[in-house]
Amino acid sequence: MSGRKKTITDLTTDEVRGRRVLVRVDYNVPLDDDGRITDDTRITTTLPTLDGLLQQGARVILLAHFGRPKGKPVPEMSLKPVADRLRELLEGRRVEFVADTVGHEARTAIGTMFDGDVLLLENTRFLPGEEKNDSGLAQEMAALGDVYVNDAFGAAHRAHASTAGVATVMRLEGKPVVAGLLMDRELQYLGRALSEPERPFVAILGGSKISGKIDVIRSLLPQVDRLLIGGAMANTFFKAMGLATGTSLVEDDRLDMARELLSTSGDKLVLPVDAVVAEKMEAGQAVQTVDREAIPADRMVLDVGPRTVDEYRRVLSDARTVLWNGPMGVFEIAEFAAGTRGVAEAVAEATDRGATTIIGGGDSAAAVAEMGLESRMSHVSTGGGASLEFLEGKELPGVAALADAGAS
Ligand code: 3PG
Repeated sequence: MSGRKKTITDLTTDEVRGRRVLVRVDYNVPLDDDGRITDDTRITTTLPTLDGLLQQGARVILLAHFGRPKGKPVPEMSLKPVADRLRELLEGRRVEFVADTVGHEARTAIGTMFDGDVLLLENTRFLPGEEKNDSGLAQEMAALGDVYVNDAFGAAHRAHASTAGVATVMRLEGKPVVAGLLMDRELQYLGRALSEPERPFVAILGGSKISGKIDVIRSLLPQVDRLLIGGAMANTFFKAMGLATGTSLVEDDRLDMARELLSTSGDKLVLPVDAVVAEKMEAGQAVQTVDREAIPADRMVLDVGPRTVDEYRRVLSDARTVLWNGPMGVFEIAEFAAGTRGVAEAVAEATDRGATTIIGGGDSAAAVAEMGLESRMSHVSTGGGASLEFLEGKELPGVAALADAGAS
């Protein structure tokens, strides 16, 4: 894993005041059917970086993607609603939006900015070169700024023009290329958990498939003291142990992998002891709690049971570092949410006792937010795919492109 990166706190006043500071953010926020933002966490968490730069007199130019428009303009994927929200959050600042990313309109808008202004450019993924990390596009982006700041941890696993290419070009041009405060915070929390966790270190992994988490399991097993498993992923382990799994989702092609993990992990790998089952994955179903040895042939596992929650709470009771990625059940449906809620509360209690608790982005972050427990976690990551790849031990291209702390 790479060492610490330079951040905006390493920039001199001269490098910021009156400068065009290009800030890559991840404003890929959820919208409802009317185009209203339902969760603005990814915007609010960049405010420390933006405030820090604006207070020093920067002209902040924001680059961001939204959705997957595949290289062409898609009106529903415009960043305009995000600019409106940002204007409310940065009360008193001039926050403009331009329906262009690197063209004439964008350059003209930048030319009319004053110190302390903010300009959000249109969705970078409207351009065909963005996801290809096209060098011509990276150069056009680089020409828009004097300094590059990457605060988009959530997009750092993508080697795109606005996350990696532009940073490389600007570094070659001798311009400062640094991490924002959110990016730094994400890297510090996740990085410390992997490299120097206070022990006992307990990881909790859920979600539907072993195949999506296998690299994380492999990377975490040597580091953790306990690895608690939940979600449909547990079913594949159950079947590998010779248990009946009814109509549950099982990855038959991963049974050998599950067997190997069971035989090599000693007592580190902890599996659910009971399960909540139903006939279908739907609201309003009659549910039953059964021991893992008694899963009925016509039922599917949709949550961990209460004995499992008690056992996981016991394991978490003396944890000093907790890392959680992936829900314990189908928490979006009330009947199957108790396991995820119980574990979320147990993690929050661990924070109260002084443990460092880190929630991976995506579904687990959504679950914690829905349960109103965000403020009782040490850190909730804004990156879904990015936090997963980081935990797999992969180098994230958006991070690799930034200047190392200590480098001149
Ligand atoms: C995310 O929402 O995880 C990031 O914004 C990355 O989006 P992507 O998966 O479409 O690249």
